Amino acid sequence: MGIRTAKLADIERIQSLVNGFAEEGLMLARSRHTLCEHIREFMVYENEEEIIGVGALHILWDDLAEIQALAINKGHQGQGIGKIIVASLLQEAEELGVPKVFALTYQSEFFFHLGFHGVNKEELPQKVWQECLYCVKFPNCDENAMLIDVKNEEE
Ligand SMILES: CC(C)(COP(=O)(O)OP(=O)(O)OC[C@H]1O[C@@H](n2cnc3c(N)ncnc32)[C@H](O)[C@@H]1OP(=O)(O)O)[C@@H](O)C(=O)NCCC(=O)NCCS
Repeated sequence: MGIRTAKLADIERIQSLVNGFAEEGLMLARSRHTLCEHIREFMVYENEEEIIGVGALHILWDDLAEIQALAINKGHQGQGIGKIIVASLLQEAEELGVPKVFALTYQSEFFFHLGFHGVNKEELPQKVWQECLYCVKFPNCDENAMLIDVKNEEE
């Protein structure tokens, strides 16, 4: 119970959570293949019965990473699980020495609450749009970019 790194055996549940919200247009759908390739980026939160929250930290450059696929099971939202997963992903960014982490999201208020601030999407480097190429909404993205400065050990 609690938060841990994801294993390949978690993929079915991760996919069901992520693709459920993708159907609502809240995030990109992920294929099983993509999840296998990126499984090491994922943290999962589980209760006694099953995984109820997931999220990933995707490194884009030596100074930038993105929080992706953050999804909490509907019945368990508002219980602090999203906050725990984001904190854990930010801790990982800090350990790796990534100074900035962002999210593209409709949940700006949630990220604002966790210390992120809004930035103009155009200020983010072009590498950010790599994954967006697969989004049905590209190039008309209406998500907000939320950024946080991560404390680094070297500082
Ligand atoms: C957005 C989401 C990840 C939040 O996770 P959660 O577990 O429900 O949020 P938490 O309970 O950890 O909330 C943490 C804090 O943020 C606040 N908060 C949560 N959602 C909020 C919102 N939409 N607006 C404002 N504040 C919010 C909570 O009140 C809480 O405040 P507190 O620390 O003072 O108690 C979750 O609702 C979700 O999976 N939504 C659907 C998928 C999605 O849109 N994912 C984001 C993709 S980037």
